[in-house]
Parts: sequence; structure tokens; C-alpha cells
Amino acid sequence: MTDDALIEYRNVARRFHSRSGTVVACEDVNLSVRRGEFMAVVGPSGCGKSTLLNMAAGLMAPSAGQVFYGGRQVPAPNTDVGYLTQRDTLLPWRTVEDNVAIALELRGQSRADRLRVAHEWLDRMGLIGFEKSYPAQLSGGMRRRVALARTLAYEPETILMDEPFGALDAQLRMVMHEELLKLWTGMQKTVIFVTHDLAEALTLADRIAVFSARPGRIRSVETVDLPRPRDVFRIRFDPHFGKLHDRLWSYLEASVRSDVMVN
Ligand SMILES: Nc1ncnc2c1ncn2[C@@H]1O[C@H](COP(=O)(O)OP(=O)(O)OP(=O)(O)O)[C@@H](O)[C@H]1O
Ligand SMILES: [Mg+2]
Repeated sequence: MTDDALIEYRNVARRFHSRSGTVVACEDVNLSVRRGEFMAVVGPSGCGKSTLLNMAAGLMAPSAGQVFYGGRQVPAPNTDVGYLTQRDTLLPWRTVEDNVAIALELRGQSRADRLRVAHEWLDRMGLIGFEKSYPAQLSGGMRRRVALARTLAYEPETILMDEPFGALDAQLRMVMHEELLKLWTGMQKTVIFVTHDLAEALTLADRIAVFSARPGRIRSVETVDLPRPRDVFRIRFDPHFGKLHDRLWSYLEASVRSDVMVN
């Protein structure tokens, strides 16, 4: 393990058993995420991306190999990470502000404190005016932003994000990219960001791990040597962005084609 590795997957495999047989979600995964690094993970549907995040969050253990966090095996649950899951997990009976404040409530902060912090994050996410709304009264993109505000309000050391902006339209996505990069630059958090979208991964990440179709194995880990700060609205027109995109796509294309044939 390198000295600055915060999260490390070592020879990790995860299998699931059911009546219809055994599914190997991923295998032979060796990946080190450095402290402060923005790591993107891309790969076809079903290759074990969410499973990898679940293991870093301590929600499930590997079937083989080990996952380390800060040099120790990941505890269950890992309270140093904030996890923006792929599925919407807002509590429908709570207002927007009370959903965002939930982690602070678990920490025992006063209601006034919780609401102050919640409102700051809702402001950053462009959601002022909706504090008292319920999740069912929001659009899909707004719900996603509330979930992101909730994850960030908790101020975790590490943020795990599972396709956080998939439901947003292209323009709002770029606005969120800018916001996320600003936050990340200011706070020096470690991020693992799962996406299907190579352009999104290239815009945001320091490195990108490309996975094969199930069982997910790492095909390549590429360094994104695009300078920062990045202009999220224009970076895709940079010729070097195009070159990186082509190279990564060549790995992903092979995975996607084999995925189509398997499923
Ligand atoms: N709790 C579980 N029980 C049984 N099988 C599971 C479970 N979680 C995941 N799997 C299986 O493991 C494989 C990988 O699932 P995972 O959700 O990690 O994929 P993914 O790469 O996140 O896919 P997507 O891009 O569609 O979200 C799938 O075949 C899935 O059916
Ligand atoms: Mg997933």
C-alpha cells in the first residue's frame, strides 16, 4: 500500500448467491485511492460499481480479498464516508430541510444549528424556497440535489457518489460539476465517483478506473492530466480532452460490446 492511499481494494472479489445461481459481481480488483484524490469509476451496467462503493462504505464485505480505509479494514459501517447512493433515499415524511439535517441530528446538534447548516447547503444547491417542501413535491433533479446537500452537510472525510447527476439535464449537470469541483478544491475531500459518462469522468477526475463487463475487472486506470481549475463548460472542446476520451472509449467500447453479447 502506498503511504498516501486512503482507500485500498486488494485482490477484491464479491459474489452473490441466490436460488438461480452465483453471480460474480467483480473480481481481481486492485485499486488505491489517494487521500484528496478524485477517482472516477466507469464501466457497463452490472459490472459491480455500486458493489465497490458498498464495500468502501462498510455496508458489505468482500467475498475474497480486503478493502482498507486509512490503513485498516473497513469498519461496518464506515462513518468517515458520506455515501450518495444510486437510489433515492430521502425520507418521504420529512421536509427538505429535515432530510438535509438528518446526519447532524444523529450527531446531537441543536435544531437551530442543524437548520442553519441545512439552509447553507440548500442555498449552494439552488434550493432556497423549497426548505419546507416534501420530496414528492420536487423534480427528480431537485431530489438529487437535496440528497447531495445531505451528504455534504455531514462533512465526511470521503464522499462516495453513485451516478449522482444521471437524472439531471445536460446544463444543470455542468452547473453541478462546477459546484462540486469548487467544493472539492476548497475542502480537499477524497471522492470516488461512479458514472456511465466518460465526459463527466474526464471533466471531474484526477484518475479514471475503467471496468470490464461482469465480472468487473479493472481494464485500465488512466490519469487525467488536464490542468485545474477546469472550465466545466468548455473543457470538452480541449483537444487533449478529445484524445483522452478516445483512449478511454477504446477500453470501454470493448466492455460495452461484450456486455451486450453476454446479457
Ligand atoms: N445485494 C445483492 N444481492 C444479489 N445480487 C446483487 C446484489 N447487489 C448486486 N448484485 C449483483 O451484482 C452485480 C453487480 O451489481 P452492481 O449494482 O454493483 O452493478 P453496477 O455496476 O453498479 O450496475 P449499474 O451501472 O447498473 O448501477 C449485478 O449482477 C447485481 O445483480
Ligand atoms: Mg450501480
